[in-house]
Amino acid sequence: MDLLFSCKSSRLFGSHPKLGSLTCKCLVLVVVALFVRIAWLPSFFGFVGIEPKNVEFIQTRYLSTDSDSGIRKDKFLEVPQIVWGLNNQKIAFARACLTARLLNRTLLMPSLSASLFYKEVDLLQPISFDKVFQFQRFNSLCSGFVQLGRYSDVLNRTNVFELQKGSGRKWTAERDMDQLMESTEDSIDGYEVIRVVGKNPFLWHDHWPVKDYARIFECLVLVDEIAKEADKVVSKIREVGRDIRSNAESSQNGADSKDSSAQQIPYVAVHMRIEIDWMIHCKKLEQRSNISQICSSKEEIVERVGNIVGPKTPTVLYLAVADSLLKDSSILSGWKEGLHPVEKKKLGVDGIYGMYPYLIQSAIDYEVCLRADVFLGNSFSTFSNLIVLERTQRMMRMGVNSSCGVDIRWPSYAYNILGESNGARRWMTNMSDSSLRAISYGSNAISCSES
Ligand SMILES: *[C@@H]1O[C@H](CO)[C@@H](O)[C@H](O)[C@H]1NC(C)=O
Ligand SMILES: *[C@@H]1O[C@H](CO)[C@@H](O)[C@H](O)[C@H]1NC(C)=O
Ligand SMILES: *[C@@H]1O[C@H](CO)[C@@H](O)[C@H](O)[C@H]1NC(C)=O
Ligand SMILES: *[C@@H]1O[C@H](CO)[C@@H](O)[C@H](O)[C@H]1NC(C)=O
Ligand SMILES: *[C@@H]1O[C@H](CO)[C@@H](O)[C@H](O)[C@H]1NC(C)=O
Repeated sequence: MDLLFSCKSSRLFGSHPKLGSLTCKCLVLVVVALFVRIAWLPSFFGFVGIEPKNVEFIQTRYLSTDSDSGIRKDKFLEVPQIVWGLNNQKIAFARACLTARLLNRTLLMPSLSASLFYKEVDLLQPISFDKVFQFQRFNSLCSGFVQLGRYSDVLNRTNVFELQKGSGRKWTAERDMDQLMESTEDSIDGYEVIRVVGKNPFLWHDHWPVKDYARIFECLVLVDEIAKEADKVVSKIREVGRDIRSNAESSQNGADSKDSSAQQIPYVAVHMRIEIDWMIHCKKLEQRSNISQICSSKEEIVERVGNIVGPKTPTVLYLAVADSLLKDSSILSGWKEGLHPVEKKKLGVDGIYGMYPYLIQSAIDYEVCLRADVFLGNSFSTFSNLIVLERTQRMMRMGVNSSCGVDIRWPSYAYNILGESNGARRWMTNMSDSSLRAISYGSNAISCSES
Protein backbone atom coordinates (compact mmCIF):
# COMPACT_ATOMS: atom_id res chain seq x y z
CA MET A 1 0.00 0.00 0.00
CA ASP A 2 0.77 3.51 -0.23
CA LEU A 3 3.34 4.55 2.20
CA LEU A 4 4.90 7.09 4.36
CA PHE A 5 6.24 10.45 4.62
CA SER A 6 5.21 12.72 5.17
CA CYS A 7 16.90 19.80 8.56
CA LYS A 8 19.21 20.71 10.99
CA SER A 9 20.49 23.91 11.82
CA SER A 10 23.29 22.58 13.79
CA ARG A 11 25.83 24.71 15.33
CA LEU A 12 28.06 21.73 15.42
CA PHE A 13 30.12 20.97 12.42
CA GLY A 14 28.77 18.07 10.49
CA SER A 15 32.09 16.40 10.40
CA HIS A 16 33.10 17.15 13.91
CA PRO A 17 34.69 14.41 16.05
CA LYS A 18 27.08 12.55 14.05
CA LEU A 19 -6.47 -5.01 5.41
CA GLY A 20 -10.60 -6.81 4.37
CA SER A 21 -13.00 -3.98 3.87
CA LEU A 22 -10.16 -1.67 4.55
CA THR A 23 -8.60 -2.71 1.29
CA CYS A 24 -11.52 -1.23 -0.54
CA LYS A 25 -11.38 2.02 1.34
CA CYS A 26 -7.68 2.20 0.75
CA LEU A 27 -8.13 1.66 -2.96
CA VAL A 28 -10.65 4.43 -3.08
CA LEU A 29 -8.24 6.66 -1.25
CA VAL A 30 -5.45 5.78 -3.61
CA VAL A 31 -7.63 6.52 -6.62
CA VAL A 32 -8.67 9.80 -5.09
CA ALA A 33 -5.10 10.59 -4.22
CA LEU A 34 -3.95 9.79 -7.73
CA PHE A 35 -6.67 11.95 -9.18
CA VAL A 36 -5.88 14.80 -6.90
CA ARG A 37 -2.23 14.43 -7.70
CA ILE A 38 -2.77 14.54 -11.42
CA ALA A 39 -4.96 17.54 -11.00
CA TRP A 40 -2.64 19.33 -8.67
CA LEU A 41 0.91 18.46 -8.96
CA PRO A 42 2.86 20.01 -11.76
CA SER A 43 5.17 17.82 -13.75
CA PHE A 44 8.11 18.56 -11.55
CA PHE A 45 6.42 16.52 -8.91
CA GLY A 46 5.43 13.83 -11.34
CA PHE A 47 6.88 11.02 -9.38
CA VAL A 48 6.93 7.38 -10.21
CA GLY A 49 4.61 5.13 -8.33
CA ILE A 50 1.63 5.51 -6.12
CA GLU A 51 1.33 8.78 -4.39
CA PRO A 52 1.10 8.72 -0.65
CA LYS A 53 0.20 12.29 -0.15
CA ASN A 54 -2.71 12.13 2.17
CA VAL A 55 -1.33 9.28 4.13
CA GLU A 56 1.24 11.08 6.21
CA PHE A 57 4.06 9.06 7.47
CA ILE A 58 2.96 5.50 7.67
CA GLN A 59 5.87 3.33 8.55
CA THR A 60 7.70 1.54 5.82
CA ARG A 61 9.99 0.21 8.44
CA TYR A 62 10.41 -3.21 9.97
CA LEU A 63 9.72 -5.12 6.82
CA SER A 64 12.74 -7.27 7.29
CA THR A 65 12.54 -9.88 9.97
CA ASP A 66 15.85 -10.94 11.29
CA SER A 67 15.08 -14.46 12.38
CA ASP A 68 14.79 -14.67 16.09
CA SER A 69 18.49 -15.10 16.61
CA GLY A 70 17.94 -14.02 20.18
CA ILE A 71 20.10 -11.39 21.72
CA ARG A 72 20.67 -12.50 25.31
CA LYS A 73 18.33 -10.69 27.68
CA ASP A 74 20.32 -11.42 30.84
CA LYS A 75 23.66 -10.02 29.70
CA PHE A 76 24.14 -6.31 29.28
CA LEU A 77 26.41 -3.70 27.79
CA GLU A 78 26.64 -0.30 29.42
CA VAL A 79 28.06 2.71 27.59
CA PRO A 80 29.02 6.25 28.60
CA GLN A 81 26.66 9.18 28.14
CA ILE A 82 26.26 9.99 24.47
CA VAL A 83 27.25 13.53 23.54
CA TRP A 84 27.45 16.21 20.83
CA GLY A 85 25.10 16.98 17.97
CA LEU A 86 21.97 14.99 17.12
CA ASN A 87 23.68 13.19 14.25
CA ASN A 88 26.75 12.30 16.21
CA GLN A 89 24.51 11.08 18.99
CA LYS A 90 22.56 8.91 16.56
CA ILE A 91 25.76 7.46 15.15
CA ALA A 92 27.16 6.91 18.63
CA PHE A 93 23.96 5.24 19.73
CA ALA A 94 23.97 2.95 16.69
CA ARG A 95 27.61 2.09 17.33
CA ALA A 96 26.83 1.20 20.93
CA CYS A 97 23.95 -0.99 19.69
CA LEU A 98 26.18 -2.74 17.17
CA THR A 99 28.82 -3.34 19.80
CA ALA A 100 26.19 -4.91 22.03
CA ARG A 101 25.03 -7.03 19.11
CA LEU A 102 28.56 -8.23 18.50
CA LEU A 103 28.76 -9.29 22.14
CA ASN A 104 25.28 -10.81 21.97
CA ARG A 105 24.17 -8.53 24.79
CA THR A 106 21.28 -6.21 25.51
CA LEU A 107 22.32 -2.54 25.50
CA LEU A 108 21.37 -0.73 28.67
CA MET A 109 19.38 2.29 27.58
CA PRO A 110 21.96 5.07 27.40
CA SER A 111 21.63 8.73 28.24
CA LEU A 112 21.72 11.18 25.39
CA SER A 113 22.65 14.83 25.84
CA ALA A 114 20.09 17.59 25.48
CA SER A 115 22.64 20.34 25.03
CA LEU A 116 25.57 20.94 22.82
CA PHE A 117 28.20 22.09 25.28
CA TYR A 118 30.56 19.41 24.27
CA LYS A 119 33.55 20.98 25.93
CA GLU A 120 32.00 21.56 29.28
CA VAL A 121 31.08 18.16 30.49
CA ASP A 122 29.07 19.35 33.46
CA LEU A 123 26.82 21.29 31.12
CA LEU A 124 25.92 18.21 29.13
CA GLN A 125 22.38 17.82 30.34
CA PRO A 126 21.73 14.10 30.24
CA ILE A 127 18.40 13.14 28.76
CA SER A 128 17.11 9.62 28.82
CA PHE A 129 16.86 7.90 25.43
CA ASP A 130 13.15 7.25 25.99
CA LYS A 131 12.43 10.96 26.39
CA VAL A 132 13.34 11.36 22.72
CA PHE A 133 12.73 8.02 21.06
CA GLN A 134 10.12 5.36 21.77
CA PHE A 135 11.67 2.58 23.82
CA GLN A 136 9.16 -0.22 23.19
CA ARG A 137 8.89 0.70 19.55
CA PHE A 138 12.62 0.56 19.18
CA ASN A 139 12.72 -2.94 20.62
CA SER A 140 9.89 -4.21 18.48
CA LEU A 141 11.23 -2.69 15.26
CA CYS A 142 14.75 -3.90 15.96
CA SER A 143 13.70 -7.22 17.42
CA GLY A 144 16.18 -9.99 16.63
CA PHE A 145 18.81 -7.43 15.64
CA VAL A 146 19.53 -5.35 18.72
CA GLN A 147 17.75 -4.83 22.01
CA LEU A 148 17.59 -2.14 24.64
CA GLY A 149 17.21 -2.93 28.32
CA ARG A 150 16.56 -0.94 31.44
CA TYR A 151 18.83 -0.67 34.43
CA SER A 152 16.10 -2.28 36.50
CA ASP A 153 16.57 -5.45 34.44
CA VAL A 154 20.04 -5.92 35.91
CA LEU A 155 19.98 -8.42 38.75
CA ASN A 156 23.41 -7.92 40.27
CA ARG A 157 24.78 -4.44 39.85
CA THR A 158 28.14 -5.37 41.21
CA ASN A 159 28.71 -8.12 38.69
CA VAL A 160 30.31 -5.69 36.30
CA PHE A 161 33.35 -5.95 34.08
CA GLU A 162 34.91 -2.63 33.15
CA LEU A 163 36.18 -2.52 29.62
CA GLN A 164 38.63 0.29 29.05
CA LYS A 165 38.63 1.36 25.44
CA GLY A 166 42.00 2.39 24.14
CA SER A 167 42.70 5.58 22.31
CA GLY A 168 45.29 7.31 20.23
CA ARG A 169 47.06 6.40 17.05
CA LYS A 170 48.16 3.01 18.22
CA TRP A 171 44.62 1.98 19.02
CA THR A 172 43.78 0.68 15.58
CA ALA A 173 40.49 -0.75 14.39
CA GLU A 174 42.08 -4.22 14.56
CA ARG A 175 43.09 -3.80 18.19
CA ASP A 176 39.67 -2.48 19.00
CA MET A 177 38.06 -5.50 17.38
CA ASP A 178 40.47 -7.87 19.16
CA GLN A 179 39.48 -6.33 22.46
CA LEU A 180 35.80 -6.82 21.68
CA MET A 181 36.37 -10.43 20.70
CA GLU A 182 38.25 -11.05 23.95
CA SER A 183 35.17 -9.84 25.75
CA THR A 184 33.19 -12.71 24.29
CA GLU A 185 35.49 -15.23 25.97
CA ASP A 186 34.17 -17.00 29.02
CA SER A 187 36.18 -15.12 31.63
CA ILE A 188 34.56 -11.84 30.66
CA ASP A 189 31.39 -13.11 29.08
CA GLY A 190 30.32 -14.46 32.45
CA TYR A 191 29.79 -10.99 33.85
CA GLU A 192 26.25 -9.78 33.83
CA VAL A 193 27.29 -6.28 32.74
CA ILE A 194 30.18 -5.13 30.59
CA ARG A 195 30.65 -1.44 31.21
CA VAL A 196 32.62 0.43 28.60
CA VAL A 197 34.62 3.16 30.21
CA GLY A 198 36.35 6.00 28.47
CA LYS A 199 35.15 7.66 25.39
CA ASN A 200 31.92 8.65 23.83
CA PRO A 201 30.85 5.79 21.54
CA PHE A 202 30.93 8.17 18.60
CA LEU A 203 34.70 7.97 18.77
CA TRP A 204 34.87 4.21 18.81
CA HIS A 205 36.19 2.49 15.77
CA ASP A 206 33.68 1.72 13.13
CA HIS A 207 33.41 -1.99 12.33
CA TRP A 208 30.05 -2.04 10.62
CA PRO A 209 28.61 -1.59 7.17
CA VAL A 210 26.23 1.25 6.29
CA LYS A 211 23.24 -1.06 6.11
CA ASP A 212 23.66 -2.07 9.77
CA TYR A 213 23.49 1.57 10.80
CA ALA A 214 20.51 2.11 8.55
CA ARG A 215 18.79 -0.86 10.20
CA ILE A 216 19.12 0.84 13.58
CA PHE A 217 18.17 4.33 12.44
CA GLU A 218 14.95 2.81 11.13
CA CYS A 219 14.03 1.72 14.61
CA LEU A 220 14.35 5.23 16.03
CA VAL A 221 10.85 6.66 16.22
CA LEU A 222 10.33 9.98 17.97
CA VAL A 223 8.11 10.01 21.04
CA ASP A 224 4.62 11.35 20.32
CA GLU A 225 5.17 14.73 21.91
CA ILE A 226 8.10 15.57 19.64
CA ALA A 227 6.54 13.95 16.58
CA LYS A 228 3.48 16.17 17.05
CA GLU A 229 5.66 19.26 17.07
CA ALA A 230 7.26 18.14 13.82
CA ASP A 231 3.76 17.57 12.39
CA LYS A 232 2.85 21.14 13.30
CA VAL A 233 5.87 22.55 11.53
CA VAL A 234 5.22 20.43 8.43
CA SER A 235 1.56 21.53 8.37
CA LYS A 236 2.59 25.17 8.59
CA ILE A 237 4.94 24.74 5.66
CA ARG A 238 2.27 23.02 3.57
CA GLU A 239 -0.26 25.73 4.46
CA VAL A 240 2.10 28.38 3.15
CA GLY A 241 2.50 26.27 0.02
CA ARG A 242 -1.27 26.03 -0.41
CA ASP A 243 -1.73 29.77 -0.07
CA ILE A 244 1.02 30.46 -2.56
CA ARG A 245 -0.54 28.07 -5.00
CA SER A 246 -4.07 29.34 -4.69
CA ASN A 247 -2.84 32.90 -5.09
CA ALA A 248 -0.94 31.95 -8.20
CA GLU A 249 -3.94 30.16 -9.63
CA SER A 250 -6.50 32.80 -8.87
CA SER A 251 -4.31 35.42 -10.44
CA GLN A 252 -3.97 33.23 -13.50
CA ASN A 253 -7.54 32.19 -14.16
CA GLY A 254 -9.57 33.66 -11.40
CA ALA A 255 -10.33 30.24 -9.97
CA ASP A 256 -10.53 29.95 -6.25
CA SER A 257 -8.82 26.85 -5.13
CA LYS A 258 -8.81 27.39 -1.41
CA ASP A 259 -10.46 24.03 -0.93
CA SER A 260 -7.35 22.08 -1.71
CA SER A 261 -5.99 20.34 1.31
CA ALA A 262 -2.70 21.60 2.60
CA GLN A 263 -1.67 18.02 3.21
CA GLN A 264 -1.15 17.48 -0.48
CA ILE A 265 1.07 20.43 -1.05
CA PRO A 266 4.66 19.41 -1.67
CA TYR A 267 7.58 21.27 -0.19
CA VAL A 268 11.30 21.47 -0.68
CA ALA A 269 13.67 21.53 2.29
CA VAL A 270 17.17 22.95 2.12
CA HIS A 271 19.65 22.32 4.90
CA MET A 272 21.67 25.48 4.48
CA ARG A 273 25.05 25.49 6.09
CA ILE A 274 26.34 28.99 5.67
CA GLU A 275 26.75 30.12 9.25
CA ILE A 276 30.11 31.58 10.08
CA ASP A 277 31.56 28.72 12.11
CA TRP A 278 30.68 26.21 9.40
CA MET A 279 32.27 28.45 6.77
CA ILE A 280 35.52 28.61 8.73
CA HIS A 281 35.46 24.87 9.25
CA CYS A 282 34.70 24.01 5.63
CA LYS A 283 37.37 26.35 4.26
CA LYS A 284 39.93 24.59 6.42
CA LEU A 285 38.60 21.26 5.25
CA GLU A 286 38.91 22.33 1.62
CA GLN A 287 42.54 23.28 2.18
CA ARG A 288 43.38 20.14 4.06
CA SER A 289 41.69 17.75 1.66
CA ASN A 290 42.41 19.69 -1.51
CA ILE A 291 38.78 19.48 -2.50
CA SER A 292 37.23 22.69 -3.68
CA GLN A 293 33.57 21.75 -3.56
CA ILE A 294 32.87 21.62 0.13
CA CYS A 295 31.74 25.13 0.92
CA SER A 296 28.77 26.57 -0.87
CA SER A 297 27.99 30.24 -0.47
CA LYS A 298 24.43 31.40 -0.18
CA GLU A 299 24.61 32.57 -3.80
CA GLU A 300 25.75 29.16 -5.00
CA ILE A 301 23.02 27.40 -3.04
CA VAL A 302 20.37 29.79 -4.37
CA GLU A 303 21.51 29.22 -7.92
CA ARG A 304 21.77 25.45 -7.72
CA VAL A 305 18.47 25.06 -5.92
CA GLY A 306 16.85 27.33 -8.50
CA ASN A 307 18.22 25.21 -11.29
CA ILE A 308 16.82 21.95 -10.05
CA VAL A 309 13.42 23.17 -9.10
CA GLY A 310 11.54 23.88 -12.28
CA PRO A 311 10.17 27.38 -12.64
CA LYS A 312 6.74 26.02 -13.49
CA THR A 313 5.47 25.83 -10.02
CA PRO A 314 5.22 28.13 -7.10
CA THR A 315 6.81 26.07 -4.37
CA VAL A 316 7.45 26.59 -0.71
CA LEU A 317 11.04 26.17 0.33
CA TYR A 318 11.84 25.36 3.93
CA LEU A 319 15.27 26.62 4.92
CA ALA A 320 16.77 24.69 7.80
CA VAL A 321 19.37 27.09 9.10
CA ALA A 322 21.29 27.75 12.28
CA ASP A 323 19.56 30.07 14.71
CA SER A 324 22.25 32.68 14.18
CA LEU A 325 21.00 33.13 10.62
CA LEU A 326 17.41 33.77 11.62
CA LYS A 327 18.32 37.29 12.57
CA ASP A 328 19.43 37.97 9.05
CA SER A 329 16.39 38.29 6.81
CA SER A 330 18.58 38.36 3.69
CA ILE A 331 18.58 34.58 3.57
CA LEU A 332 14.97 34.86 2.43
CA SER A 333 15.82 37.05 -0.52
CA GLY A 334 17.37 36.36 -3.89
CA TRP A 335 15.62 33.07 -4.60
CA LYS A 336 14.37 32.25 -8.05
CA GLU A 337 10.88 33.40 -8.87
CA GLY A 338 8.33 30.80 -7.87
CA LEU A 339 10.37 29.64 -4.88
CA HIS A 340 8.97 30.92 -1.62
CA PRO A 341 11.48 30.54 1.17
CA VAL A 342 10.42 30.25 4.77
CA GLU A 343 12.29 29.48 7.95
CA LYS A 344 11.20 28.94 11.53
CA LYS A 345 10.73 32.60 12.23
CA LYS A 346 8.73 33.42 9.13
CA LEU A 347 6.58 30.33 9.68
CA GLY A 348 5.96 31.53 13.19
CA VAL A 349 7.12 28.24 14.67
CA ASP A 350 10.16 29.56 16.49
CA GLY A 351 8.06 29.44 19.63
CA ILE A 352 7.63 25.68 19.22
CA TYR A 353 11.35 25.22 18.87
CA GLY A 354 12.04 27.63 21.71
CA MET A 355 10.30 25.31 24.16
CA TYR A 356 12.88 22.61 23.69
CA PRO A 357 16.57 22.04 24.25
CA TYR A 358 19.01 21.80 21.40
CA LEU A 359 18.69 18.03 20.82
CA ILE A 360 14.91 18.14 20.43
CA GLN A 361 15.01 21.21 18.18
CA SER A 362 17.44 19.38 15.99
CA ALA A 363 15.27 16.24 15.99
CA ILE A 364 12.26 18.30 14.84
CA ASP A 365 14.24 19.92 12.04
CA TYR A 366 15.56 16.52 11.02
CA GLU A 367 12.02 15.17 10.74
CA VAL A 368 10.87 18.18 8.71
CA CYS A 369 13.73 17.68 6.24
CA LEU A 370 13.23 13.91 6.15
CA ARG A 371 9.60 14.27 5.10
CA ALA A 372 10.21 16.93 2.46
CA ASP A 373 9.23 16.05 -1.09
CA VAL A 374 12.62 17.27 -2.23
CA PHE A 375 15.64 17.61 0.01
CA LEU A 376 18.87 19.49 -0.61
CA GLY A 377 21.87 19.36 1.67
CA ASN A 378 25.64 19.50 1.82
CA SER A 379 27.39 16.18 1.28
CA PHE A 380 29.97 17.13 3.90
CA SER A 381 27.35 17.54 6.59
CA THR A 382 26.58 14.57 8.79
CA PHE A 383 23.06 15.89 9.29
CA SER A 384 22.41 16.02 5.55
CA ASN A 385 24.02 12.61 5.14
CA LEU A 386 21.82 10.90 7.67
CA ILE A 387 18.71 12.39 6.08
CA VAL A 388 19.73 11.17 2.63
CA LEU A 389 20.56 7.77 4.10
CA GLU A 390 17.10 7.46 5.57
CA ARG A 391 15.39 8.76 2.42
CA THR A 392 17.36 6.31 0.29
CA GLN A 393 16.49 3.46 2.65
CA ARG A 394 12.79 4.32 2.44
CA MET A 395 12.83 4.38 -1.31
CA MET A 396 14.54 1.04 -1.41
CA ARG A 397 11.88 -0.33 0.89
CA MET A 398 9.41 0.72 -1.76
CA GLY A 399 11.37 -1.21 -4.36
CA VAL A 400 13.28 1.65 -5.95
CA ASN A 401 16.87 0.50 -6.46
CA SER A 402 18.42 3.64 -7.74
CA SER A 403 17.17 7.02 -6.81
CA CYS A 404 19.54 8.80 -9.13
CA GLY A 405 16.81 9.10 -11.73
CA VAL A 406 14.96 12.34 -12.07
CA ASP A 407 11.43 11.05 -11.86
CA ILE A 408 11.68 9.50 -8.49
CA ARG A 409 9.70 10.18 -5.35
CA TRP A 410 11.57 12.07 -2.63
CA PRO A 411 14.68 13.01 -4.53
CA SER A 412 17.68 14.37 -2.65
CA TYR A 413 20.43 16.63 -3.93
CA ALA A 414 23.86 17.83 -2.81
CA TYR A 415 24.08 21.54 -3.55
CA ASN A 416 27.84 21.63 -2.98
CA ILE A 417 28.37 19.44 -6.04
CA LEU A 418 27.49 20.65 -9.47
CA GLY A 419 24.93 18.57 -11.35
CA GLU A 420 23.04 18.90 -14.59
CA SER A 421 21.99 22.31 -15.94
CA ASN A 422 24.00 24.09 -13.28
CA GLY A 423 21.80 22.58 -10.66
CA ALA A 424 22.64 20.60 -7.57
CA ARG A 425 23.74 16.99 -8.07
CA ARG A 426 21.33 14.13 -7.40
CA TRP A 427 22.31 12.29 -4.27
CA MET A 428 21.62 8.88 -2.84
CA THR A 429 23.38 6.82 -0.24
CA ASN A 430 25.38 3.82 -1.33
CA MET A 431 23.86 1.22 0.96
CA SER A 432 26.60 -1.29 0.12
CA ASP A 433 29.35 0.82 1.59
CA SER A 434 31.38 -1.04 4.12
CA SER A 435 31.59 1.69 6.71
CA LEU A 436 29.67 4.73 7.75
CA ARG A 437 32.82 6.76 7.33
CA ALA A 438 32.47 6.39 3.61
CA ILE A 439 29.24 8.28 3.63
CA SER A 440 29.01 10.46 6.62
CA TYR A 441 32.02 12.42 7.59
CA GLY A 442 33.05 14.60 4.79
CA SER A 443 32.64 13.06 1.45
CA ASN A 444 31.77 14.03 -2.04
CA ALA A 445 30.89 10.45 -2.90
CA ILE A 446 27.18 10.78 -3.43
CA SER A 447 26.64 7.78 -5.73
CA CYS A 448 24.92 9.67 -8.49
CA SER A 449 27.21 10.50 -11.38
CA GLU A 450 26.79 13.46 -13.62
CA SER A 451 25.32 11.37 -16.47
C1 LIG B 1 23.07 -15.19 21.51
O1 LIG B 1 22.53 -15.78 22.68
C2 LIG B 1 21.37 -16.57 22.43
C3 LIG B 1 20.82 -16.99 23.78
O2 LIG B 1 21.83 -17.63 24.52
C4 LIG B 1 21.74 -17.73 21.54
O3 LIG B 1 20.58 -18.51 21.24
C5 LIG B 1 22.29 -17.17 20.22
O4 LIG B 1 22.76 -18.26 19.41
C6 LIG B 1 23.46 -16.25 20.52
N1 LIG B 1 23.84 -15.61 19.27
C7 LIG B 1 25.10 -15.42 18.96
C8 LIG B 1 25.34 -14.72 17.66
O5 LIG B 1 26.00 -15.76 19.68
C1 LIG C 1 27.01 -10.12 42.64
O1 LIG C 1 28.23 -10.13 41.93
C2 LIG C 1 29.39 -10.05 42.75
C3 LIG C 1 30.60 -9.89 41.88
O2 LIG C 1 30.58 -10.81 40.81
C4 LIG C 1 29.45 -11.30 43.65
O3 LIG C 1 30.56 -11.23 44.51
C5 LIG C 1 28.17 -11.39 44.49
O4 LIG C 1 28.14 -12.59 45.21
C6 LIG C 1 26.95 -11.32 43.58
N1 LIG C 1 25.73 -11.24 44.40
C7 LIG C 1 24.70 -12.05 44.24
C8 LIG C 1 23.53 -11.81 45.15
O5 LIG C 1 24.67 -12.93 43.37
C1 LIG D 1 45.29 19.76 -5.43
O1 LIG D 1 44.50 19.41 -6.55
C2 LIG D 1 44.95 20.02 -7.77
C3 LIG D 1 43.93 19.69 -8.88
O2 LIG D 1 43.12 18.61 -8.55
C4 LIG D 1 46.36 19.51 -8.11
O3 LIG D 1 46.80 20.11 -9.31
C5 LIG D 1 47.28 19.86 -6.95
O4 LIG D 1 48.55 19.33 -7.20
C6 LIG D 1 46.74 19.31 -5.64
N1 LIG D 1 47.56 19.78 -4.54
C7 LIG D 1 47.99 18.99 -3.58
C8 LIG D 1 48.82 19.65 -2.53
O5 LIG D 1 47.69 17.79 -3.52
C1 LIG E 1 15.91 -3.80 -8.46
O1 LIG E 1 16.37 -4.87 -7.67
C2 LIG E 1 15.64 -6.05 -7.86
C3 LIG E 1 16.11 -7.10 -6.85
O2 LIG E 1 17.38 -6.81 -6.40
C4 LIG E 1 15.82 -6.52 -9.31
O3 LIG E 1 15.09 -7.72 -9.54
C5 LIG E 1 15.33 -5.42 -10.25
O4 LIG E 1 15.58 -5.79 -11.59
C6 LIG E 1 16.04 -4.11 -9.94
N1 LIG E 1 15.45 -3.05 -10.72
C7 LIG E 1 16.19 -2.14 -11.33
C8 LIG E 1 15.45 -1.09 -12.09
O5 LIG E 1 17.39 -2.18 -11.29
C1 LIG F 1 28.93 1.36 -3.51
O1 LIG F 1 29.89 0.82 -2.62
C2 LIG F 1 30.42 -0.43 -3.07
C3 LIG F 1 31.30 -0.96 -1.95
O2 LIG F 1 32.19 0.00 -1.51
C4 LIG F 1 31.19 -0.19 -4.36
O3 LIG F 1 31.71 -1.41 -4.85
C5 LIG F 1 30.24 0.39 -5.41
O4 LIG F 1 30.94 0.71 -6.58
C6 LIG F 1 29.58 1.65 -4.86
N1 LIG F 1 28.55 2.07 -5.81
C7 LIG F 1 28.46 3.34 -6.22
C8 LIG F 1 27.34 3.65 -7.17
O5 LIG F 1 29.20 4.22 -5.82
